Amino acid sequence: AIDISVLRQKTGVITLDPGFANTGSCTSAITFMDGEQGILRYRGIPVQELAEKSTFVETAYLLINGDLPTRNQLSRFSELLNEHSLVHEDMHLFFNNFPRSAHPMGILSSMVNALRSFYPTLEGLTEKEEINITLTRLLSKVRTMAAMAYKMSRGHAVVYPRPNLSYCANFLNMMFDSPVKPYKMDEDLLRALNVFWILHADHEQNCSTAAVRLVGSARVNLYAAISAGIAALWGPLHGGANQKVIEMLEMIQENGGDATPFIKKAKDRNDPFRLMGFGHRVYKTYDPRAKIMKEMCDKVLRVLNLHDPLLDIAKKLEEVAVEDPYFKDHNLYPNVDFYSGIVLRAMGIPTNMFTVMFAIGRLPGWIAQWKEGASDPNWKLYRPRQIYIGRTDSRFVPIDERG
Ligand code: ACO
Repeated sequence: AIDISVLRQKTGVITLDPGFANTGSCTSAITFMDGEQGILRYRGIPVQELAEKSTFVETAYLLINGDLPTRNQLSRFSELLNEHSLVHEDMHLFFNNFPRSAHPMGILSSMVNALRSFYPTLEGLTEKEEINITLTRLLSKVRTMAAMAYKMSRGHAVVYPRPNLSYCANFLNMMFDSPVKPYKMDEDLLRALNVFWILHADHEQNCSTAAVRLVGSARVNLYAAISAGIAALWGPLHGGANQKVIEMLEMIQENGGDATPFIKKAKDRNDPFRLMGFGHRVYKTYDPRAKIMKEMCDKVLRVLNLHDPLLDIAKKLEEVAVEDPYFKDHNLYPNVDFYSGIVLRAMGIPTNMFTVMFAIGRLPGWIAQWKEGASDPNWKLYRPRQIYIGRTDSRFVPIDERG
């Protein structure tokens, strides 16, 4: 039995809620989710509408500032993103010294933390101006650093951002342009990238966002808080799942394409294997983002005239799994990661960069959530309690007597 009476008397009752599944950690006006009906809205606007009509930069502005921008506000925001897109030349030295095999999420998390050393607080700015510069730097430079990390991992020269390209076009250009083969921008892929990032832009108090808020609540600088978010996102139960999905689909392909043994394995309680890209803490129905992503897979492959056998395997797996009583009873449906990797593959993004793509998309959400916390006059230090279940009657035994 757990005795919490003393704590109850002095500090109020402590509730135990593993994984905080039913604990609200803050109030927020940014993102609304209804996990039973599969609804997701940013600042009140359905994500489907944004995916259809908005751009990633416009959606980022909406999340961070609360309203859709006017034409002037949007062009000023885009201009600023362009102005801040270069990365300090000395940071190249960092990239050079990571082992070639380093995972890009590890590199990104370290580099984002390092940004504070390269871009310290500027004298004479108001707090608001300082925050605006920091968030613009982050949005712009993280994208540049991601492309740099890719180029350097291949031993290729870095491609610098170009002021005449949009945010998303610049990213694709920095990733794939080369002196021997200039990158040819494809409007459909560009649109797909916008939609991919819009769908990832925020998701209320998920693990990485909660990490950003928690670390931020200690009043660390925004770079450090975002770096913590990137580290949390790396995990295979969270953003790392998009890489794991493709690895799982490839494994199914190598085993002849039949998903049934994998489904059986996922149902086995004695086996830690799970179907990657399936299940969600909040959605107990189809993830609305996965639906858009699935449609986008079909569209992107069609316009590019590509056939990806992994998409056939994924669809077949979904068909079988959603009809299976185990998955039905556990409310397990595809989440955003299930189809996203196939879109990224079509763009030419290597598998180990998938979670980095998620991170760039999630940045506006992390920033908006941090900003919301920081502007709350009652922003309290996150400090959960525990229910202690260890020994209480131990004594110090001198080392000679311990056997
Ligand atoms: N495959 C098989 N069984 C599963 C899966 C899955 N993908 N997901 C959950 N379950 C089962 C669990 O085994 C458990 O079964 P039991 O109650 O019979 O023991 C039950 O469903 C509940 O699982 P929990 O882990 O307690 O549920 P939780 O809400 O913590 O899990 C999570 C959510 C972590 C996303 C989980 O569904 C999972 O591991 N999915 C695979 C990884 C993945 O796709 N992650 C991406 C999530 S979306 C995102 O972060 C962007």
